[in-house]
Amino acid sequence: MAHFDGPGGSQVPLRVGQAVADTLCSGIANRGAVTAAERRAEGVVAGARAAVADLLDCRPEGVVFARSMTQATYDMARALAKQWGPGDEVVVTRLDHDANIRPWVTAAEAAGATVRWAGFDPVTGDLSVDDVAAELSPRTRLVAVTAASNLLGSRPDTAAVVEAAHAAGALAYVDGVHLTAHAAVSMADLGADFYACSPYKFFGPHHGVLAAAPELLETVRPDKLLPSGDSVPERFELGTLPYETLAGTTAAVDFIAGLGGSPAASRRARIADSMRQVEAYEEEIFTRLLDGLAAIDGVTLHGSPKRRTPTALFSVAGRSPQEVYERLAAQGVNAPAGSFYAIEAARHIGLGAPGAVRAGVSPYNTTDDVDRLLAGVGELTR
Ligand SMILES: Cc1ncc(COP(=O)(O)O)c(C=O)c1O
Repeated sequence: MAHFDGPGGSQVPLRVGQAVADTLCSGIANRGAVTAAERRAEGVVAGARAAVADLLDCRPEGVVFARSMTQATYDMARALAKQWGPGDEVVVTRLDHDANIRPWVTAAEAAGATVRWAGFDPVTGDLSVDDVAAELSPRTRLVAVTAASNLLGSRPDTAAVVEAAHAAGALAYVDGVHLTAHAAVSMADLGADFYACSPYKFFGPHHGVLAAAPELLETVRPDKLLPSGDSVPERFELGTLPYETLAGTTAAVDFIAGLGGSPAASRRARIADSMRQVEAYEEEIFTRLLDGLAAIDGVTLHGSPKRRTPTALFSVAGRSPQEVYERLAAQGVNAPAGSFYAIEAARHIGLGAPGAVRAGVSPYNTTDDVDRLLAGVGELTR
């Protein structure tokens, strides 16, 4: 099976599944300090916060766990919007996945605040700092921006966008779901106030993560049950955490750390080194994929971002995206079709909801996978 469906969710190493099963069956209770089972749950949560902090270069006390990035973003949007009112403004971009648009639009509408939309170059797929800066004003409270588009792979200069947001006195909420699988991330370097990601995109189980400075989280009051803890980050985590899933995420981070770097180095240093190697490998495979697709008559590549993840979006003349998807799937090549919830981006580039075919490269893809995809697409053009 050739998996080019990584942008929708990566394949998972056995040790991640094993960590989930081991934790679930380890004699575990709800968190506490009295029984060994309670302490085990406590340790799993602490371990997962530390692992994510190493992955994102942030502080463990600022790592919030959620069911998904979408849920984390809706919850945070509702909580932040308690501080907004008429005249306040929120900036969203048309490049973003809807999970970093609609929660802000809905929360702004409920607070009577105004939403301002940053466009992007529909031909290249690039979102520039100027595209966002044009929408900033002294009334901007928050800028929601993607670190990488899950549709086109475009990687905006997120650090510069964050800087522009800060200069306007606004917070910056960065969607790192697509990027985290493909690059070494440093929240410290990025300067982002919030950074959201989803471990199921980087070899882990299905849940979401939201990272922020603990001091910032202290200023936000989400809705919560009366008896549940009011400390940060627990205040943001409604109900019981999925301990077994969190253990899987720790295993996924350790898996990434194990891909490269010297065993003597810190986990953070090994992760950064591994991700640089992942990036270099994926680029090699992606170049073969992109060049191969460009060489096939009848294939249209959408977008040519200056800086990108290894994610290609393409159409085949005379074939619907769905037909290409199904025909490739029948040959064991998984490259799905659609707009992948990046509905604003798909409309902005003129594709609309049916979108196109997306082929994303992951570290487990080989040149053989690429050749199979190219052969399958080639057949459809004849
Ligand atoms: C860029 C991007 N943002 C957000 C999401 C939503 O993530 P989740 O499924 O964790 O809600 C996705 C999922 O595909 C995504 O690709």
